[in-house]
Amino acid sequence: MVRELYRKLNFSDFGDERGKLVVAEGELDIPFAIQRVFYIYGSDDSVIRGQHANRNSEFVLINVAGSSKVMLTDGKNKETVTLSRPMEGLYIPKMIWKEMYDFSPDSVLLVLASTHYDEGEYIRDYEQYTSMM
Ligand code: TYD
Repeated sequence: MVRELYRKLNFSDFGDERGKLVVAEGELDIPFAIQRVFYIYGSDDSVIRGQHANRNSEFVLINVAGSSKVMLTDGKNKETVTLSRPMEGLYIPKMIWKEMYDFSPDSVLLVLASTHYDEGEYIRDYEQYTSMM
């Protein structure tokens, strides 16, 4: 079985002479009910974030400003996605190992999550992760 590593989502972009407005509604554009929002900024091209898998959480990542890269793997297949468009989301299913890196100085990476925060559902050791897959 080939596990889904990610899915690209395209949000409605209402642009007019006043600027842009992008909409992402939970359970409609986002394939889950949104329980949590956090955002990452002030990172740069020297750091690697993430480096974990989540037992229970699904995520959608949106670079609302700037750009970053995301490496996704299930321990067998591996893909890299560049995020640089505010109207594009990256859906990440449960139990996918992810690493975010190469942040532009102006990067604001918005993350929508399907769960409330629970450190206990994080797998932060890659060897442990691959042994579970
Ligand atoms: P961390 O998981 O290391 O961030 P990243 O995946 O981007 O590398 O989280 C950094 C800190 O923030 C850590 O102390 C846990 C805390 N945190 C919360 O309290 N709630 C949250 O929803 C998240 C994502 C992190």
